[in-house]
Formats: sequence, C-alpha cells, structure tokens
Amino acid sequence: MSYSYQITSFEQYKEAYRKSIENPEQFWGEIADQFTWHQKWDKVLDWNFTEPKVEWFKGGKLNITENCIDRHLATRGEDPAIIWEPNNPEERTRIVTYNRLHKRVCQVAQMLTNLGVKKGDRVCIYMGMIPELTYAVLGCARIGAIHSVIFGGFSAQSIADRVYDAQAEYIITCDGAYRGNKDIPLKGVIDDALIGNRTVKKVIVYTRTRTPVSMIKGRDVWWEDEMEHAETQIEKDGVVHFPAASMDAEDPLFILYTSGSTGKPKGVVHTIGGYMIWTNYTFINVFQYQPGQVHFCTADIGWITGHSYIVYGPLSAGATTVLFEGVPTWPDAGRFWEIVDKHKVNIMYTAPTAIRSLMGFGLNYVKDKNLSSLKVLGTVGEPINEEAWHWYHQNIGKEKCPIVDTWWQTETGGTLISNLAGVTPQKPAHATLPMPGVQPQLVDENGNVIEGNGVSGNLCITHPWPGMLRTTYGDHERCRTTYFATYPGKYFTGDGCLRDNDGNYRITGRVDDVLNVSGHRIGTAELENALNMHSGVVESAIVGYPHDLKGQGIYAYVIYEGHHHDENLTRQDIIQTVSRIIGPIAKPDKIQFVKGLPKTRSGKIMRRILRKIAEGETENLGDTSTLLDPGVVDEIKNGAL
Ligand code: PRX
Repeated sequence: MSYSYQITSFEQYKEAYRKSIENPEQFWGEIADQFTWHQKWDKVLDWNFTEPKVEWFKGGKLNITENCIDRHLATRGEDPAIIWEPNNPEERTRIVTYNRLHKRVCQVAQMLTNLGVKKGDRVCIYMGMIPELTYAVLGCARIGAIHSVIFGGFSAQSIADRVYDAQAEYIITCDGAYRGNKDIPLKGVIDDALIGNRTVKKVIVYTRTRTPVSMIKGRDVWWEDEMEHAETQIEKDGVVHFPAASMDAEDPLFILYTSGSTGKPKGVVHTIGGYMIWTNYTFINVFQYQPGQVHFCTADIGWITGHSYIVYGPLSAGATTVLFEGVPTWPDAGRFWEIVDKHKVNIMYTAPTAIRSLMGFGLNYVKDKNLSSLKVLGTVGEPINEEAWHWYHQNIGKEKCPIVDTWWQTETGGTLISNLAGVTPQKPAHATLPMPGVQPQLVDENGNVIEGNGVSGNLCITHPWPGMLRTTYGDHERCRTTYFATYPGKYFTGDGCLRDNDGNYRITGRVDDVLNVSGHRIGTAELENALNMHSGVVESAIVGYPHDLKGQGIYAYVIYEGHHHDENLTRQDIIQTVSRIIGPIAKPDKIQFVKGLPKTRSGKIMRRILRKIAEGETENLGDTSTLLDPGVVDEIKNGAL
C-alpha cells in the first residue's frame, strides 16, 4: 500500500497545510475516503468549542479493526504485524502475522461476546506488554466495546477509581507481568481493587508468569479456556470469521485516564473515525513510514503513546510494530540497541528520559550493536534537552537519521506539532511546525493573542483536528471547564510555548499544576490528596523541580503532626502511602517537613515561592508581601533539601 497523502517535500507540506486550513472538510474527507467504511458519513465536520461539540465523519459506519487488520490480509497476511520481544532475552521472540492477528482478535471478540460483553460496554485492561494485550484491545474494538487500558504501575486504589468511574463490568488481566527483574502480581492487584466492587461481572485472566492467583467462582475465568472455546466457534473449514460491528465514526473507541490540575484523573474519550485517521496520518507522515518497515515505539500501551503508535497508527498503516515487554536497563543498558539490531528496526520512538538514562551508562552498550537499519528516530513526552538530542543523533542515528520531536497529549490522540522526518526542517529541542489541520495560537494570561515570531505564551489550538478528545467520560462539563473555558473558543493545552524567528514551536513545559515526571503526567492536586491520606500529614504542597534523569522530580513540602521516631522512616512511610494510593510512579523524590506553607490571605498556597526554593533559588523569591505569614518562607528556605 502506498499513501497518496504522504507528504514528501517541504513544498508539499506547505501546500497540504494551506489546503487543510482553507478547506478542512475537503482535505480530511479525501483522506478518509481511503479507509474502509461500511457507509459514508453525512458530514465531515460539525463543531463548536463552546459546548464543546466536535464531530468528525458523523453518520459514517466503520470498524477500526477492519482498517487495522482485515484490509491488509490480501496483500500482507503473512507479513509480521507484531514482533514481540520478551522481557527475558533468553525467551523466544514471537512473530504475529496479520493473519494470526486477525484470528486472535476474532477469537477475543467471540470470547467477549460469549461472556456477555456488548457494544458500548466498558472493559478495563490491566496486563503486561504481551501480544494478548493487543488482542484484548482490538477484540474490544471489533465488537464495539470501549476499552480502558490501565498502566501496570498504578495501584489497586487507582484501578478501583478508574473501574468505578468507567462503570466497567469486565476486566482483562494476567496472573502477573515481568518487568526487568521484577514480577508484578497483576491479578492480586486487581483482586484488591475489586474488594467491595459490585459492578464487575467477569475477570478474564491470562497466564503469563504462573504466579499463584485466587480465582473467584462465577466471576473469574481463564483466558486460555475461553479462547479455546471461542476458536471452535470462529473457524469453519479453515476460514476465520467474526463479523466486525458496524460502528458510527463518533462512537467511543476508548477511555484513557490522565491526571489534571484538579482532583481525580479524568477519562479522556476518543472516538473511532477521527482517531483512526489521525493516528494513521501522523504515523505515516511524521515518521515517513515506508511499506515493510519495522517500527519500535518503546512506550507502554497503558499510555496514549502506546495506543496511538504501537497499536492503532502502525497497524492501520500495515506496518510491523515491535512490542517490548521489558525495561531499557535489564539485563543491561544495551537492551534497546540489542532489539534494534536483532529485529532490524527502521523507526525508533522513545522518550527523552530514557535517552538521558541510557546516556548515563556510556557508549559501551551501544558500540557492539549494529544500528544500521535505523532510518528515523523520534522522541515524545517531554521537552528534549539539547545534550540528549545530540547524543541520540550522533550515537544512535550516526548523524544519518532525522529526529522527530513530536509534541502531543493524551487529549490530542496523536502528534500535533512535529517535523516530518527528513522532509521538513528539524531543530534540536524544537517540535517545529504544526501538522496539517492543526492551528496553534499563543495567548497571554488574559487571552490576548500573541502574533508574530520570536514570542512566547500559552499554547492553544483554535480549530478541531480529527484526533482530538470528544469528552471526559461521564462528565462533559469537566471537559469544557478543563480545556475550553480558560480561553473561550479555544482548546487550551496547559503548555507554555515559544515561537522562534522562523515560526518553529518549542514547548517549554506545563503552565498549570501538572508535573511531567519521566514523561508521565501527574497532577499536583492528585499527589497532595494521596499525601494527605497519611495519618500524620496535616497539609502538603507539591511542586516540580529540575531532575537530571526524570526531567521533573516531585518535591513535597509536608506539615506533619504525627510523632517522628526518625524523619527518614516517616519519609518512607509517606512514600509508601503515595505508592498505595496512586502507584509507584508517583513516589515523591524529596520530602521536606515544614511548620507552615506560604499562603495568601485568601488561603491560596503560593507555589511560585515553593517552586523557586525547590529549584535551589533562595534570593529573588519575588513579592512575598501578600503572604499571611512571610516568616514561613525563611523557615522553608533554611530547611530546603
Ligand atoms: O507538557 C507536554 C508534554 O507532555 C504533556 C502531555 O502528556 P501526556 O498526555 O501524558 O502525553 C504524553 C505523550 C504524548 C504535554 O502537555 N509533552 C509531550 N510531548 C512533548 C512534550 N513536551 C515537550 N516536547 C514534546 N515533544
């Protein structure tokens, strides 16, 4: 398959961009025409950012799994869809062809149907990075069930909250998951999460680690048994068949929970048609994917990057996608490069935090690997510092591979701002130019538009693109207030941004109370809620501080009234509490005990001051005269870690 909508020169990019702005409906309509539909849409786009309402291809009927699998079968049925690399390099790699993927997805669809799952039902998926996770995700999509994948690093409490919020009745999990030298008891965590739960009807358990599990009668079933039965139903005379549900383009495809600046995580909802087109279009154009290439995205499917660029983007393009179960540093820090060498990876997509961490291990782990298959490198998740960019460029790309710095968010579905590999100019540490259809705008705090180049401001997007979120699950008003109310009529990203003299965008980081730790988003309010659950904690305030590896570290200021046997033990207890409530990914890096927090007379914590102190700044703390008790600042400064 070649793609008429693949942009191959800077001129073509400018032309495509112009067309996408002048006539978005024609532009996206022509691209959408090249996918498999059961029925054509009534209207390409209907929108207003007030409600907000965004509808792409409404009335169009399709199934995303036919676009990701069935339409490739005639031409590349025996080509690898997934190359699975196990955690332990001694274990055998599994190659899943498109034919095999088709069969497994049909089987899962049949299994889910047998267990009572219907169109629109929510299915939570809590599994390690194994092919069965992909089958589970696509099996849901085949029958029109809404998947909600939960990252393996979340705690039982976080799972319980998500299961409840989504009102999920079905869960798919594993006995356990391997990650480096750890063995994570997934089913045990699910069991804890479901204590007291009354909505979940079935838990499907796949055997991966042979960790002992307790199977609850009537609720828990083994994946292997159910799949075996399903196989006999879908295969007749050697032909595999399970009819794909005919879905509206605007039916939900999945929910993915993400942290925000207030309270509990919100369930970002993506719908089928627009998301499919966006992930496909951005995959093909940003990475300049060529038929037959092997794509390795190192993210976890529990995050949006995995959804869009391990599963839906690559598979909808008929690509070969590498699925890696393990971690970059086990058994040693050469694991990524060994995978590139072993599977002749052409496109490598990872996070700056991983690059920085691997840089620290030196070049010995790179030297003996053959990386000559690489054509394109990519980064995502956080701003990349120039040092890491150059290391990646020189030592991994051997100065021959363009690097795409892709800026996007859970809410955007796929990349919004990035260079196109080798086609549009790259600039270290700059995401550069918007994708066709994306209209960025910088505004100041009062919402005044900042025109021209060589400026900075808060990043908004003024027009819908097909892959944008449609709502937050069960609470549309929250979607409106979070994204569309700060600057009425615009989607507000929460990011600060510079536009250089050539019009290139450079994302500088969050301007709201959200941290980006190792490329993962964590809201300070959510963290503070978790900290405050600890019995001795009276109040806390969390800020980010620059961290060499993680990008941002978590700095906690804590007012503690309990009895300290030993401050360090208390710190460990608090960390343990956060780990229980949110998950190990949210552990604070530093905890400073304080007597008071700097508050204004209206009771608002002045984070600006706390941020500066966490960054090591003790002078220039700005105006502290509005503080209720300016004295606390000195105490905090003196005790800074
Ligand atoms: O601050 C931006 C940062 O990550 C945030 C989105 O986080 P999340 O929804 O978890 O999705 C991460 C993967 C898409 C953004 O608001 N971010 C993401 N990509 C970049 C980035 N910051 C700078 N440069 C990037 N390329």
